[in-house]
Amino acid sequence: MPTTIVIFGASGDLTSRKLIPALYNLKRKGRLPEETRIVGFSRTKFSHDQWRADLRETTVKFTKDHFKPDVWDDFADRVYYHAGDIGNAEDFRSLGKFLAELEGGADASRVYYLSTAPRFYEPAIEQLGDAGLACEEGDCERRVVIEKPFGVDLASAKKLNLHVHKAFQEHQVYRIDHYLGKETVQNLFVLRFANAIFEPIWTRQYIDHVQITVAEEVDVGSRAGYYDSAGVVRDMIQNHLLQLLMVTAMEPPARYAADPVRDEKVKVLLAVRPKSPEAIVRDTVRGQYRGYLQADGVPPDSRTATFAAIKLGIDNWRWQGVPFYLRSGKAMSCRTTQIVIQFRQPPHMLFKSGPRTVRDANRLVIQVQPAEGIQLHFQTKVPDAGMTMRQTDLDFNYQKNFGGSIPEAYERLLLDAIEGDASLFARADEVEAAWSICDPILHAWREQDQPTLHAYEPGYWGPTESNEWMHQQGREWFDTCPVLH
Ligand code: BG6
Repeated sequence: MPTTIVIFGASGDLTSRKLIPALYNLKRKGRLPEETRIVGFSRTKFSHDQWRADLRETTVKFTKDHFKPDVWDDFADRVYYHAGDIGNAEDFRSLGKFLAELEGGADASRVYYLSTAPRFYEPAIEQLGDAGLACEEGDCERRVVIEKPFGVDLASAKKLNLHVHKAFQEHQVYRIDHYLGKETVQNLFVLRFANAIFEPIWTRQYIDHVQITVAEEVDVGSRAGYYDSAGVVRDMIQNHLLQLLMVTAMEPPARYAADPVRDEKVKVLLAVRPKSPEAIVRDTVRGQYRGYLQADGVPPDSRTATFAAIKLGIDNWRWQGVPFYLRSGKAMSCRTTQIVIQFRQPPHMLFKSGPRTVRDANRLVIQVQPAEGIQLHFQTKVPDAGMTMRQTDLDFNYQKNFGGSIPEAYERLLLDAIEGDASLFARADEVEAAWSICDPILHAWREQDQPTLHAYEPGYWGPTESNEWMHQQGREWFDTCPVLH
């Protein structure tokens, strides 16, 4: 069935930087279903050709060596533009007419992609509903893809869900979190559920704790206007880190399909132990990098956290007593996203030389990016040195094993949206459960102004207090920048 992708916010940065390059790459790889059409919708007046020419320029820039003029020409033949205002019902009626003409009266599915500023999500959805563009007839499917942020707290996320459900049914709604489109995050499903050796030890009996770190070397740059009202919890933890937590901690789904997968993911969030205000002070660290207050658009007295470390407990049979440490920050040592499964020490220490601390025990490090791979750390006897041991590792690296480049997350997610597979998209209850975890933290930080907002130097692993906090719990952060080959 042909598909028409309608991008709202077509003249925005996300469209030119991510969406069009991803769709072009799918075309280049022969994966974009034949007869896929792309229609841009935004207020700026462009002709089809003007929009195509602009997109060509940006796609050359973002796809670099992968840009092939003949593939682009083929691709651009199916790219169209329709100017309109999200606030104007008449523009939606004319969009509907335009789409019907384009599709030539034949059956076609549609994917409406909301790549606009979040304040336009509700009006765009309402207009699609009112113009009759949301309802499904016969085999023609209508899907709506909604970018993050999905609300700014639990109340606004619930309100947005209610609003969305007035026009679309839940099976039509694709809430995007680009972390789920990353190959290495999908590989977590494979690592855990397509191998027999990991799952039996993926429990409280063998695991001491789990660390999930998303460190960014960049600071807020020119996004301070948005970032100051969001901060690290809304920008990263509520979505990306909690997604990583769910995929790490979920039970195996009965089938690899949207609802069974999402059912298991949601159960993880529902099992996260709620925190009292006192527990929030004890179990969280917050920081702000030095220089943040001087960034353009940041009020001089801003209390926005650019770093957070949060300890979560999951009350279920698999994870009771295993802390999950989530940590993210801007202006850190390096860019790295990693999940560290820190195993326990052996119950009986046969050799005098160790392993003595949790840090010496086995560790599985899943490098989500940028040096995609997995390392397993274990003790080895140093040759010709009695029973002296040293930690060594087995190292799997995507680049070495598979060559080529890792595709952009949006490629997989756009293809899934076209094909109607919602497994890697968030469900309504999932985003609400994620907000239920973050809301009390944001509230306590704001109302109690505690724990202390520590300043940290850019280029380190956040405030030194975050290391002390871990030491007090007898643990250590795994602070290693990935080796890029
Ligand atoms: C976005 C955040 O969702 O994710 C940004 O808004 C952040 O602040 C980005 O930089 C990180 O994504 P990635 O894929 O580069 O890790």
